[in-house]
Amino acid sequence: MTWFMVAVVVVVATAGLLRWRRPAWYWLTFGVTFAVVRVLVRYGSVMDACGLTVPPSRWRLTLARVANRPVPESRPPRILRLRPTRTGLVLRLKLRPGQDAFDIAAASDRLRHSFSMYGVTSREIRSGVVELRMTGYDVLKRVQMPAKTDTAPMRVPVALREDGTVHYRDYRAIPHALTLGATESGKSVYQRNLVAGLAPMDVALVGIDCKQGVELFPLARRFSALADNPDTAAELLDALVAHMEDVYQLIRAEQRITADVPDAEIAAGIWNLPEHLRPVPIVVLVDEVAELALFATKDEEKRRDRIITALARLAQLGRAAGIYLEICGQRFGSELGKGITMLRAQLTGRTAHRVNDESSANMAFGDIAPDAVLAAIQIPADMRGLAIAGDSTGGWHRIRAPHTTLRQAVNTCNRHADRTPHLAVLAPFRPTLGIPKPVAAPAVESIPATP
Ligand SMILES: Nc1ncnc2c1ncn2[C@@H]1O[C@H](COP(=O)(O)OP(=O)(O)OP(=O)(O)O)[C@@H](O)[C@H]1O
Ligand SMILES: [Mg+2]
Repeated sequence: MTWFMVAVVVVVATAGLLRWRRPAWYWLTFGVTFAVVRVLVRYGSVMDACGLTVPPSRWRLTLARVANRPVPESRPPRILRLRPTRTGLVLRLKLRPGQDAFDIAAASDRLRHSFSMYGVTSREIRSGVVELRMTGYDVLKRVQMPAKTDTAPMRVPVALREDGTVHYRDYRAIPHALTLGATESGKSVYQRNLVAGLAPMDVALVGIDCKQGVELFPLARRFSALADNPDTAAELLDALVAHMEDVYQLIRAEQRITADVPDAEIAAGIWNLPEHLRPVPIVVLVDEVAELALFATKDEEKRRDRIITALARLAQLGRAAGIYLEICGQRFGSELGKGITMLRAQLTGRTAHRVNDESSANMAFGDIAPDAVLAAIQIPADMRGLAIAGDSTGGWHRIRAPHTTLRQAVNTCNRHADRTPHLAVLAPFRPTLGIPKPVAAPAVESIPATP
């Protein structure tokens, strides 16, 4: 008996410790079983309390009366499937007549409390069937990506969503994207995750990092071209526009439309070209975009116009030529001058990290999902990396990328350095490898070492 008591105490203490220190392990060991039992036992009463039951139909009432049975009770939606996952439970419900998906969505906060889960979200699968995704713990507190994710060309698993699913950056579905956020909000870490995710793919990476290259130059071995100042950036973007025109010439040459060519085989973009002819897709990553749009002199203004025009052309025409833009900045609004809002309108994917004011959030979501603006402002300062990701459909999610360190990203890029394509048109911008020579007299003095 004593041994039994000791074993019970050890198990309870382990569960408590795991729940406190390692919620993901707690969920997999104990949490999932408790949650399944809790949901199944409480289901009827919780649905009733949340107002999600429907009164018995007429024929059931008549049947009860004829059979002299007690009056049947109200019924909750039928459970079609209950599936435990790595982070929570997925409950698929068949709605009763008279209910709609909005009833469930409106009650999701009440369901969360009633089932003692961390989060509950719902979505309609098809008419009359709703999926409730419940998470057992705060999955965004310590992001762990699942070991296995869907693989598809140009689709990068970049972050985790609050409902425990993986957030993908799919370049073929959403060619261009804008990432905004105040300083120290996690933009560069997000971009670093993208680079690490793209590194093993057949893609050319082009980087423009006007923060003197501190974010992207360490990853140089996987980059086909890099620019660390606005002058080089202007030339690099012109070269990309020239490359885009060449790709269009190639597509034109391949079209050769005759009456007997099936519709599906007419090439209108690089993905329709036969594999041996297909030019390698290019992802252009721009960090601190405002640096490209600021100017102090007349010459700089000309350079700025050239850069913004080239970016706008790439955003408008680049998709079919396999050129995708990934732009990061602290703000990206009309105060940066003409052409900016036109460029922003082409950037379909929107991600906003913590912002300090509503107008910055409006730059990301004001024109597509007004309620996401509020969510972006509410991101707490101590949850760096947390972001709101939306797209032009008006839907949005809370996401957080894993905390990939620069060292990890450098290792990934170096491991896949042999995949770096060499594009002739970008050759002048190919980063030189090796450690830069130390400057004889550094402009900034280091803090003297304390003895
Ligand atoms: N997803 C994340 N998970 C955990 N910590 C993060 C995450 N993203 C960022 N951080 C923390 O926030 C710090 C700042 O991130 P980052 O350099 O990406 O900010 P930033 O938005 O690029 O800032 P700046 O505008 O100044 O360049 C990182 O050093 C890291 O410690
Ligand atoms: Mg940064």
